[in-house]
Amino acid sequence: MPSAVITGTGMCVPERVVTNAELERLVDTSDAWIRTRTGIRERRLVAPGEQASTDLAEGAARQALAAAGVPAQALDLIVVATCTPDYPAMPAVAPLLAGRLGAERAGGFDLSLACTGFVAALATVQAFVRSGAASTALVVGVDVMSSIIDWSDRSTCVIFADGAGAAVVRASPAGDALAGGEVLHASLGMQGNETALVVPAGGSRRPLGAGDAALLARGDNRLRMAGQQTFRFAVTTMAAEIERAARAVGVSPAEFALVVPHQVNERIIAAAIERLGYPRERVVIDIDRWGNTCGGSVPIALDEAVRGGRVQPGDLVCLVAFGAGLSWGSAVLRWR
Ligand code: UT7
Repeated sequence: MPSAVITGTGMCVPERVVTNAELERLVDTSDAWIRTRTGIRERRLVAPGEQASTDLAEGAARQALAAAGVPAQALDLIVVATCTPDYPAMPAVAPLLAGRLGAERAGGFDLSLACTGFVAALATVQAFVRSGAASTALVVGVDVMSSIIDWSDRSTCVIFADGAGAAVVRASPAGDALAGGEVLHASLGMQGNETALVVPAGGSRRPLGAGDAALLARGDNRLRMAGQQTFRFAVTTMAAEIERAARAVGVSPAEFALVVPHQVNERIIAAAIERLGYPRERVVIDIDRWGNTCGGSVPIALDEAVRGGRVQPGDLVCLVAFGAGLSWGSAVLRWR
């Protein structure tokens, strides 16, 4: 059975920097509150309507393909994790991205699992590659969260942001040690919850139509979050998932050279890491610059770690994510 190896990564964020000070002009908040409660100093947001998920996905994908030295024409699978596709129901981002890249041989699809999306997409691609159903794949995590944020809700508008990350995953036949991050393990979990993180209207449960002005004015087509409920869930889940991932590959969490967590909130990451007694300097934290980019969060952090030289041959790297669903997942990579 071939192994699945990440041979190149990339990322793309919008050019527009939005500081905490700018949000102070929008809602009743302060730079000090946002920094101390979330760790965020600034984030990137698209100029409304000017860029959609496919645009950011394309930027990240092109970087990942260049890093892997793989032409788009070689791709046979594209999986895009997003909860903010360009269009509400169809078409999906994956075929639009294939068209942009000229990936004529690729099949693919979108996968919707909010902040857990990239790990779920990686788990899926690993299974395709190991089974022989695909040999050269592209995995993208992207969200334009600004398109579903209620800009009058201070508990969410200061956290979420826009961005994309991508990875090229290639089949490495047994005995052929393709350089990169071999996906040793990937697992997922979930538990139905319709209140913690939800966009109440605009889907099949509550379609929107003419006459829904009051509902729209209330922002029911925007993200609603039960912050404290998700805070507790996130701390517990992140710690438990890192332990589960370590057990799955027969090591202790301390043996992970690096943990790449979903950039949910610096305090959540710190609390989970403290529970495990894991050293904080070996955790990738970039939420200060990018905010919480949902599907983009883990692959952006991974790309920064790879490009920043924080991953060396022999290292075990743990990716961990959680979010709406509720859902969670982890993956372990061995760098070689
Ligand atoms: O990506 C996956 C999904 N996301 C998450 O899992 C997010 C998890 N939750 C969080 O990150 C945090 O719960 C928040 C950042 C959303 C909130 O932080 P917190 O420390 O849990 O604050 P809180 O909800 O306990 O609120 C404390 C106070 C409240 O005021 P009162 O009731 O004490 O007067 C809030 O109204 O802070 C207030 N508050 C704010 N104040 C200034 C909430 N948001 C803001 C804000 N600026 N932006």
